[in-house]
Amino acid sequence: MCGIVGYIGEQQVPELLLRGLEKLEYRGYDSAGIAVVGETEAELFKEKGRIATLRKSINGKAEGTAGIGHTRWATHGPPSKENAHPHQSTSGRLTLVHNGVIENFEQLKEEYLGEVELASDTDTEVIVQLVEVFMNQGDSVKKAFRKTLRLLKGSFAIALIDNEDKDTIYVAKNKSPLLAGYGEDGNVVASDSMAMLHVTKEFVELMDGEVVTVTRDNIEITTLDGEEVTRDSFTAELDESDTEKGTYAHYMLKEIDEQPFVIRNIIQKYQDENHDIKLDPEVREALNEADRLYIIAAGTSYHAGLVGKEVMEKVAGKPVEVHIASEFLYNAPIVSENPLFIFISQSGETADSRGVLVNVKEQCHKALTITNVPGSTLSREADFTLHTYAGPEIAVASTKAYTAQMAVLSILAMDAARSQGYEDSFNAIQELSIVATAMETLCDQKDEMEMIARDYLTDVRNCFFIGRALDYHVVLEGALKLKEISYIQAEGFAGGELKHGTIALIEDKTPVIAVTTQEHVNLNIRGNVQEVDARGANSCIISMENTAKNGDQIVLPKVHDYLTPLASVIPLQLISYFAALHRGCDVDKPRNLAKSVTVE
Ligand code: G6P
Repeated sequence: MCGIVGYIGEQQVPELLLRGLEKLEYRGYDSAGIAVVGETEAELFKEKGRIATLRKSINGKAEGTAGIGHTRWATHGPPSKENAHPHQSTSGRLTLVHNGVIENFEQLKEEYLGEVELASDTDTEVIVQLVEVFMNQGDSVKKAFRKTLRLLKGSFAIALIDNEDKDTIYVAKNKSPLLAGYGEDGNVVASDSMAMLHVTKEFVELMDGEVVTVTRDNIEITTLDGEEVTRDSFTAELDESDTEKGTYAHYMLKEIDEQPFVIRNIIQKYQDENHDIKLDPEVREALNEADRLYIIAAGTSYHAGLVGKEVMEKVAGKPVEVHIASEFLYNAPIVSENPLFIFISQSGETADSRGVLVNVKEQCHKALTITNVPGSTLSREADFTLHTYAGPEIAVASTKAYTAQMAVLSILAMDAARSQGYEDSFNAIQELSIVATAMETLCDQKDEMEMIARDYLTDVRNCFFIGRALDYHVVLEGALKLKEISYIQAEGFAGGELKHGTIALIEDKTPVIAVTTQEHVNLNIRGNVQEVDARGANSCIISMENTAKNGDQIVLPKVHDYLTPLASVIPLQLISYFAALHRGCDVDKPRNLAKSVTVE
């Protein structure tokens, strides 16, 4: 959600910024812009819509070796050229990009900007105008910037340039992610290291409350009070090729196909030479000491948490609650005496989850983050982190991160069981390797999945997914995938609940996709399928070798009962992918969605 890039150095900046913005497209955005510092002033290029439109409008016209760029996901004011960043102060001297939300912008406007005519609806413009107001009162840019930062409430990552000092990008952040990076011939600023790998792999993390000046040959970090801060840089463990889609038409398809590899990678990373689980002893201790686990997450990660709860409770007998982060934030339940909070987040940046983490830390509870981005905010602020090792996930619709999260949770469950002396219990490592092979088989069945998407989902308005027990959780994810990228209204239901309301929506040819991998409820869900069929539904059954019947549309290879979602989600992902493709949707960048949701 919103992304920032900046460069100051020897190279021509427009192309560097555009490439950076393209790398940030995955976060979700609806307009984009860059500012290039020219001979006398910063030249602005902004467009509503895709980076490709911006690129076309620039068409080689911009020149300069310093600049900032931004992808905007509208919060204050609709997506438009006027509201797109960068924003300039009234005199045009200052130019700024911002990621986040300034909660007190109305108040600041009233208090300080009475005389200033604003050119946009954004909260962002208030920041750049404030800096100018303080400069007009005699402050230097740096002083005015600091003064402004002290007034801002909310989340922000900011990069600011000044026409009269072409050698500096001023940077600051609060809650929103931002990095600075050391290049060979210039330095960079970026929301995500992925964005600037074409310039450097050496980055330095910036912390809340710091003011940073990035020049051609230096990155100076200071506190808000001006004290110098030293911090080591780190090398991003990514290659630019990791973030490219190669021969695939879409990142989503590539990421679906990567799942067997990801699972094998997780097995390797979480296993020592004796084939025992390799886990930070402190995580183990926290897990064992906790009387109850609280999983906090959003979206797909929440769905992974639902599966994780089942596995943990069945394998290790440990009670688990799973909560939607945005709900827990304002409506927390009574918490046990000795809880362990587990935050599941692909990006590690989700504002709702972070809000809960801040509260949890205030109450001195222990927190573990399971994430795909170990340096992320949720990872830094929790006591412990477990990495999902899925590699960069670029498509907005999450696929490999979901299966990776469930894999890590199952390993955690096995570890908790072993710690309690259940030696012969579920062996997650062995079972996951069977899952990886099953995933491979399923990924090879794309033609069949495409056919199902054609048969069931062409020209339909809605689609229902049903399942029971563990299958109920995976159908929630299946429905989310389909609605996210194809815009078909899709909902997942517990099979038994159908007749308590939803069945009223079944009409002639309504698609109903049923997942049945659990023997103890196989007959029940098949009964539910008959009920919808009797009312004209077009039902599609996804079963597993042990639950299959003649006529089922997809039969999954057998995997352990607790891990069936890792296999059954693959056809659901592929069917969604092909449904979206046939409808001409932008599969990787669905409308209105953002990959990394950094606002509440
Ligand atoms: C957004 C994304 C979803 C994701 C959710 C939680 O809504 O579009 O794909 O599941 O955020 O994100 P997280 O990074 O915390 O897993």
